[in-house]
Amino acid sequence: MRILVTGGAGFIGSHVVEGYLAEGHEVAVIDNLSTGRRSNVPRGATLFEVDIHARETERIFAEFRPEVVNHHAAQSSVKVSTEDPVHDMEVNGAGTARIVELAARYGARKVIYASSGGTVYGQPETLPVPEDHPIRPLSPYGVSKYAGELYVEWASRAFGLDYTIFRYGNAYGPRQDPSGEAGVVAIFIGRMLRGQPCIIDGDGLQQKDYLYVGDIVRANLLALERGSRTVLNIGTGRGTNVLEIFRAVESAVGGPAAFEHGPPRPGDVRAVWLDVRRAEEVLGWRAEVSLEEGIALTAAWFREQRAFTPPGTAPRD
Ligand SMILES: NC(=O)c1ccc[n+]([C@@H]2O[C@H](COP(=O)([O-])OP(=O)(O)OC[C@H]3O[C@@H](n4cnc5c(N)ncnc54)[C@H](O)[C@@H]3O)[C@@H](O)[C@H]2O)c1
Repeated sequence: MRILVTGGAGFIGSHVVEGYLAEGHEVAVIDNLSTGRRSNVPRGATLFEVDIHARETERIFAEFRPEVVNHHAAQSSVKVSTEDPVHDMEVNGAGTARIVELAARYGARKVIYASSGGTVYGQPETLPVPEDHPIRPLSPYGVSKYAGELYVEWASRAFGLDYTIFRYGNAYGPRQDPSGEAGVVAIFIGRMLRGQPCIIDGDGLQQKDYLYVGDIVRANLLALERGSRTVLNIGTGRGTNVLEIFRAVESAVGGPAAFEHGPPRPGDVRAVWLDVRRAEEVLGWRAEVSLEEGIALTAAWFREQRAFTPPGTAPRD
């Protein structure tokens, strides 16, 4: 199958590309490398270093003619969204409108869209939170990711495009940026490996649904054939707080580590974990990697990277 993955040089997108290549699909990647890295793109995929808004993007659709468009490109930071909600909406809302419109115009069969279960519901009234819970985002990022969902559903009604919308929990795993503001597992591993104290935002009792990236890849593989015209929470169905993450990372990295408390984050949700029964029914999917296992795999990957990085050399390319 010919699959176009937007954001395929980013953390999650690059793993999805790897999964598709492993199953023998032909994969092209569109990424402007704003947070992604060229080195993340697996060998065998063609990288087009362009912005989803650029004129060039249309030419790529016209020439590659993807059968499935997997849309992971996004402004992915909640913090950036609170500082610049207009830019956030341009990338995540308008950018998704552009991608689905091009997908339909150039004959794609299906769009797979990465939305955010951790932010679109806001603070849920019920936990685990099901897909039909009201949408009340606490951050511009949650608003723009949901706007993207509405464009996907519109394109389905207007042009008959098939789709699966995923609402992921908090993803973690190899290749997550440890210098970013999001991705507590990567940040803690990075700081512990450098012998620096970890900063715990607020009291550290905020709970999220932490999901290993390999489990996300399996959902994206299944969605090629299943999960038609539906919205699916993709998570573990369990909440874990930041102090528990700190302890799990500490034991994976091997050794006592220090932490300090910082201020709570604006726009952060206090407790959210996802009801994943629909994904089980529709895709036959469930998270398989435990938190301990996933954190151990992630820590091992970060250790390996450091072993090949000369001291003082930034890990970015
Ligand atoms: N990481 C999570 O926990 C999480 C949770 C829920 C949803 N998501 C969604 O999953 C997707 C991937 O997230 P991630 O954590 O891998 O983030 P990421 O920042 O690593 O990946 C996003 C990619 O999109 C690219 N990009 C950004 N703007 C672009 C543009 N205008 N044109 C072309 N490329 C552009 C970036 O360079 C990057 O490679 C995003 O859509 C995000 O909203 C992530």
